[in-house]
Amino acid sequence: MEDQAQLNPDIESVILSEQDIASIVKRLGDEISLDYADKDPLIVAVLRGAFVFMGDLVRAIKVPCTVDFMAVSSYGAGVKSSGEVRIVKDLDTKLEGRHVIIAEDILDSGLTLSYLMRLLGERKPASIRICAFAVKDVPGKKPAVAPTYVGTHVPNSFIVGYGLDYAEHYRNLPYVGVLKPEVYS
Ligand code: PRP
Repeated sequence: MEDQAQLNPDIESVILSEQDIASIVKRLGDEISLDYADKDPLIVAVLRGAFVFMGDLVRAIKVPCTVDFMAVSSYGAGVKSSGEVRIVKDLDTKLEGRHVIIAEDILDSGLTLSYLMRLLGERKPASIRICAFAVKDVPGKKPAVAPTYVGTHVPNSFIVGYGLDYAEHYRNLPYVGVLKPEVYS
């Protein structure tokens, strides 16, 4: 557990410590290394949230792989339910014949990824799977996509850190914590 004295004052509690995160990422790296030996997977991160997880995950993958990034922005509140996004930065890598793994920081509704899976799937990759660091547990709701690799489950609370933001801040916290309600209300 983090030293309370070092805890960011806006954080109510830590739900995943640096040590928790390290062991989750190691396990995911081991699983992917086993499944993708000789497949030279392309690991794709969708900016911005996934950048921290991506950096750790690729260092935990012990077989050859390459990386690429894309950035998307949603069209606005009206189409949130479709998950339809505009590509702000596309991948530079050709996907045809590649084994693609999308590294996602957190899966909530899964709508963004479900849209992206369809979009990237049209580029004829050999395979495409999702590796989610965390899946948010929302009672009565199931994400629109099923990740092959799941790091952990987190409660449906306002969490930040390890890439996750509130108003673009807190991404740099090395742990995942619950934001104090007075910060966002
Ligand atoms: C967050 C997160 C996921 C997405 C999950 O990104 O990083 O990409 O939402 O939501 P969903 O499963 O309900 O589609 P956000 O749009 O906040 O952008 P960010 O990555 O820049 O933080």
